[in-house]
Amino acid sequence: MQPSGPASLRHLRDTFTRLYGGSPRIFRAPGRVNLIGEHTDYSDGFVMPAAIGFYTYVAVGPRNDRKLSVHSINFGDAKQFDLQHISEGPTGHWSDYVRGVASVLQSKGGSLPGANLLIQGDVPVGAGLSSSAAIEVASALALLDNSGVALDRLEVALACQQAEHVYAGTNCGIMDQFISCFGQANHALRLDCRSLVHQSLEIDSKVRIVICNTKVKHELASGEYNLRRSECEAGVRYLKRHLPEIRALRDVDLEELNRWGTGMPEETYRRCRHVVTENERVQAATEALESADLHRFGELMAESQRSLRDDFEVSCKELDLMVKLAESSRGVYGARLTGGGFGGSTVNLVRADAAKKFKQTIEREYQHATGVRPDVYVCCAAEGAGEVRDTAT
Ligand code: GLA
Repeated sequence: MQPSGPASLRHLRDTFTRLYGGSPRIFRAPGRVNLIGEHTDYSDGFVMPAAIGFYTYVAVGPRNDRKLSVHSINFGDAKQFDLQHISEGPTGHWSDYVRGVASVLQSKGGSLPGANLLIQGDVPVGAGLSSSAAIEVASALALLDNSGVALDRLEVALACQQAEHVYAGTNCGIMDQFISCFGQANHALRLDCRSLVHQSLEIDSKVRIVICNTKVKHELASGEYNLRRSECEAGVRYLKRHLPEIRALRDVDLEELNRWGTGMPEETYRRCRHVVTENERVQAATEALESADLHRFGELMAESQRSLRDDFEVSCKELDLMVKLAESSRGVYGARLTGGGFGGSTVNLVRADAAKKFKQTIEREYQHATGVRPDVYVCCAAEGAGEVRDTAT
């Protein structure tokens, strides 16, 4: 699972040369884990993600025509698009992300010149670790470099989010694309998803971020994700009758929700309660991290998990089990599902000296209970997207 080493970069370069000729430039973008602040970004709320050391690599070189040729090593598959006539909308093919990014970039910065792309990645797919943002951001950087157009990182993140909406059909918030662009080694970012102001929070070197992949594939585009988003918007419309100045659930506190929201459909009320309380938890978690109070941070993760399970209903029995196993293991501060949910992964804050044992215990116990061997990754927060300047080959 680590093609970032020189051997696989060499393989990427060599394969590019064999397929297209010439010597490519290579860009990469990471997946992410979210420590706390789940399903809050599209309500203008607060999140606390970190980039992880799994990347999608895009090798790029110019073409003489206006075609975009895309080849994926992972899928063993290729596709070609005419940049003058890019069709709209999702098709369910992996190349939708690249096609979408090319189309959105053209709508912002004018026409792109033809390009050859070769893609290889090690971000686990369908694991809630944002492999889609990784391919979007890496493709965007590659296409921009090939066209000589400069776009600042925030615009890149926003363009990729738009591509996800229109070409993947998921009405996601900005968290994933933002952290893929702005991730920092050994730091989480606390992001205000309205102002897009962010603050770096150092992660204690004595702690590891351990990701446990249940192997239950989540499908955000399957409709549940978009449904949750529209339930939050329905809650805002209801509350606006009494609180006309609000724009999103970010503007509501629990007292206001309880005063004006109890007449809503019960399910909508619970969706809103999750978002409102989760935003409060991110604020409390920021203070906990700043004061190195990892026990408090862990309690907030546990509350977040309960709220995601009971109020927002985006957990599943495998995620609940993974959290339960983690909570009864040694050296664990906190555990919760990360990302969109409905499967995918949990995030665990674990004492560095207990991480190896933790991994073994989880692998054994989860497999014992489910028959499925989980993937457990012991991580530190990693760098965001950029060019890979390794010229060793
Ligand atoms: C997915 C989306 C994000 C965010 C999370 C849930 O990862 O892409 O925008 O909404 O789910 O926090």
